Amino acid sequence: MKYLHDIDFKNKRVLLRTDYNVPLENGKILDDWRIQISLPTIEYILKQENSKIVIISHLGRPEGKFDSQLSLEPVAKKLEELLGKEIIFIKDILSSEGDEIIQSLESGQIALAENLRFYPGEEAGDEKFAIDICHHFGVFVNDAFSDSHRAHASIFKIPQSKPSCAGLLMQKEVSELSKALQPSKRPAIAIIGGAKIETKMPVIENLASIYDAVLVGGKIAVEAKEQSVKFEANVILPEDYIDETFDIGKKTSEKYALAISSASFLVWNGPMGKFEEGKYSKGTKDVLEAIVGADAWKIAGGGETLEFIHKNEKADKFDFLSSGGGAML
Ligand code: 3PG
Ligand code: MG
Repeated sequence: MKYLHDIDFKNKRVLLRTDYNVPLENGKILDDWRIQISLPTIEYILKQENSKIVIISHLGRPEGKFDSQLSLEPVAKKLEELLGKEIIFIKDILSSEGDEIIQSLESGQIALAENLRFYPGEEAGDEKFAIDICHHFGVFVNDAFSDSHRAHASIFKIPQSKPSCAGLLMQKEVSELSKALQPSKRPAIAIIGGAKIETKMPVIENLASIYDAVLVGGKIAVEAKEQSVKFEANVILPEDYIDETFDIGKKTSEKYALAISSASFLVWNGPMGKFEEGKYSKGTKDVLEAIVGADAWKIAGGGETLEFIHKNEKADKFDFLSSGGGAML
């Protein structure tokens, strides 16, 4: 993989893919973390002589149609605030007006284009759409780690027709998550919860072959049982639950906490239960407390997991927090 330092940005118009898929409510950004972590790459590129940037991103799942609720305009305002610099907003990157804005960018200027998923070509991975977007640019930078498990046009097709590299966030994610695949200390324990068993099954199997134990919770544990999935002996499923299956039970929490506290290497992705309803958050809370208390190298990722960690003000207890959910796995 190529990184920023492998590329000469001097005099270049740079196309930068970020993941600004932020939680929004009535046009208000509820959490700007994904915007914050994109800043180092933007700042790096802007320091290069006579460079200019157009940023592209998706937001939500508008399914190829314009949806004013999913406009990136609020993100442009927030980015402007965080960078202390004007952000030119491109309403339609495929229009002649879009062309004009891009062509007339001056040294050090930044523009943000409207939500890529307003165009059907993005999710379809359409090559023509990719070329229409990137033909103005000298180089493409992908810093959208958390969307990079998608074979979409901006992720998968643009790098096939432009000199490309990974941004600083992507670089950090790859280097930290590579460590997770080669535990440097033992015992190494992975804790996997949440939903989407299809995506997580292969990951659990892979982790089971590398780690000493994989503790499973959340909806996937329930589904695995329902589907009579056969795991390796070091994959541990819950023994008891609260209210049918909404949270792991006391016995399971205690067993998981004990295992976690003896570990020297911990990876966590996915809650243990329906934590958004307070009464089913105890299992996830117990796991978090055990991780925080363990004398271990620790990383976590996934939207809900990070939300829970931030809400409990434990972010600083982790060695690394991945911005990816599915992408991390
Ligand atoms: C995410 O938030 O996980 C990424 O932005 C990907 O979004 P998606 O799950 O809608 O593809
Ligand atoms: Mg997602």
